[in-house]
Amino acid sequence: MSQRIPEETVLEIKNKNDIVDIVGEYVQLKKQGRNYFGLCPFHGEKTSSFSVAADKQIFHCFGCGAGGNVFSFLMDIEGISFVEAAKKLADRSGVPLDVDVSSNGEKQHSALNDMLEAHEFLRGLYHTVLLKTKQGEEALKYLLNRGFTKDSIEKFQIGYAIDSWNYTTDLLSKKGYSLDRMEQAGLLIKRETENSYVDRFRHRIMFPILDRQGKTIAFSGRALASDENKYLNSPETVLFNKSKVLYNFQNARASIRKRDAVVLFEGFADVISADRAGVDNGIATMGTAFTNEHLQILSRTTKNFIVCYDADNAGINAANKVADLIHHHRLNVRIAVMPEGYDPDEFIRSFGAEKFQNEVISAANSYISFKMFYHRRGKNFTNDSEKMVYIETILEEIAKLYNEVERDYYLRLIAEEFNLSIDALLRQNRKMVKQNNKEHQKKEERNFSNDVFVKKSKLKPAYQVAEENLISFMLRDRLLADKINQKLNGETMLDVRHQAIIMYLISYYNEGRPADTSLFLNYLQNQALRMVVTEIEMKSLHLEPSEKEINDCISQIGKQKQLEVLQQKEHEQKEAERKKDFNLASQLALEIIEIKKSL
Ligand code: UTP
Ligand code: MN
Repeated sequence: MSQRIPEETVLEIKNKNDIVDIVGEYVQLKKQGRNYFGLCPFHGEKTSSFSVAADKQIFHCFGCGAGGNVFSFLMDIEGISFVEAAKKLADRSGVPLDVDVSSNGEKQHSALNDMLEAHEFLRGLYHTVLLKTKQGEEALKYLLNRGFTKDSIEKFQIGYAIDSWNYTTDLLSKKGYSLDRMEQAGLLIKRETENSYVDRFRHRIMFPILDRQGKTIAFSGRALASDENKYLNSPETVLFNKSKVLYNFQNARASIRKRDAVVLFEGFADVISADRAGVDNGIATMGTAFTNEHLQILSRTTKNFIVCYDADNAGINAANKVADLIHHHRLNVRIAVMPEGYDPDEFIRSFGAEKFQNEVISAANSYISFKMFYHRRGKNFTNDSEKMVYIETILEEIAKLYNEVERDYYLRLIAEEFNLSIDALLRQNRKMVKQNNKEHQKKEERNFSNDVFVKKSKLKPAYQVAEENLISFMLRDRLLADKINQKLNGETMLDVRHQAIIMYLISYYNEGRPADTSLFLNYLQNQALRMVVTEIEMKSLHLEPSEKEINDCISQIGKQKQLEVLQQKEHEQKEAERKKDFNLASQLALEIIEIKKSL
């Protein structure tokens, strides 16, 4: 059973939370005409198909069909119930709302919940053990020695798992969790031979990994002793997908948006040190490479990336790869370079926060400056052939730049440095750019033919458009809805979803509710129907329909129905002829003529 929230309260919450603001916290929106557009957070895309209408207070994605109001946006993006979404919005806007979200009946006691609960419990426990117990002293000393502050231990909820094989196992067992399930959650390890369970994390500093809603879904444990595997992560589980999770994204998101930039680090220690040094828009992957998926998640919040990897061979090569990936997606990338051998955490400890902010982050290299540094490493320019290889490589990199002014600028730099003719460089560069464009165009053409195919198949038949128009008229105003309903006189829509929407809409109005598409979306509990309504609303221009327009729509539907009857009869007629039932065939022929006349 879900708790009911009084309708006036729902209306008040809706009125006090502009959908443009709420969506804007998750998606970068640009105003275009009446609506706002951005990259859809519900499916991966490179062009903005996702739109928000401020006047109607709804959103819709023309790419994947997602759609709804401010409540369903939060429900879908955060994976929460209506009551939870309403509570969040109420709290944000100061509307008093007394619902108990934690005991919400919609929350089932499922396997997933057990796993989340156990993670939450252990996060708190490990944190307390680190700060408040004798057993945690060694770990705490280690952290403080390394420059971690109490503040960051608090903010990142760092903890300690003691040196024991059964501490966590016993506690989880006492709390009544199924140990099998806890093993599946990655918290325990099963000993096949003895059919027993032991703790996965022992004598390790525990970094909780949060998902985008702030729930703990995994841990990474750092060894205190140096002879062990340095970091031990939770395995992939139903909760934890390494290629999607970014360390600290949940904390950093607001700052990433505000600064309109994100800093990518290699390690947790770097993220935490940087945060302490005032760079609070940093994230790290889970010890895995930075992937397309990570990029897609982050690019919904910002288009500007600063890569700040370790200044050793492995780190510089990894930074080069990440820079290529980001640049390839036409996002902006800068690469921070530190003195050889340093990682960000060590740099901050050695040189302080200010130098880190000013000389590393703010001074990060442009894509090409980094490439110049990168390709130059280890080369001996007194050797002509090494020099030529370098120049050739850099010219190729310059040709990949999207901006002509930029290309020109760097070509001049190269011409000057190596005493080459700028005209020759410009000529060669034009050739390279042309070649790149050709290759690019080939790719685009392939994609484009797909697009055309999709668009073609989406061309709607006239009756479909007529039904959609009727629905958009009926959504506008109650009197218009009644009038259309009377004119329909029991005639049903051909698309069953349209018929369902009209029936819901009529009962919505009959219960005394106002014409308000956003509120109507709450009333429609079916997601597929919501998607249809938001699509119709996004396309509707909201012009006052004339009597004739309404009649045309209705007759269009009638025509289509007759067409379908006609096709059916023609089919039956052929069947009758095949079976040599000429009586039936000629009777059908007469009926067919009648229908054709009326059409
Ligand atoms: P680093 O070795 O740079 O770790 O590995 P760090 O974050 O600087 O840690 P400290 O300063 O030595 O304490 C970078 C990242 O690679 C992953 C972790 O995510 C780590 O943060 N990693 C590293 C592992 O997953 N396992 C390992 O054994 C080592
Ligand atoms: Mn480190």
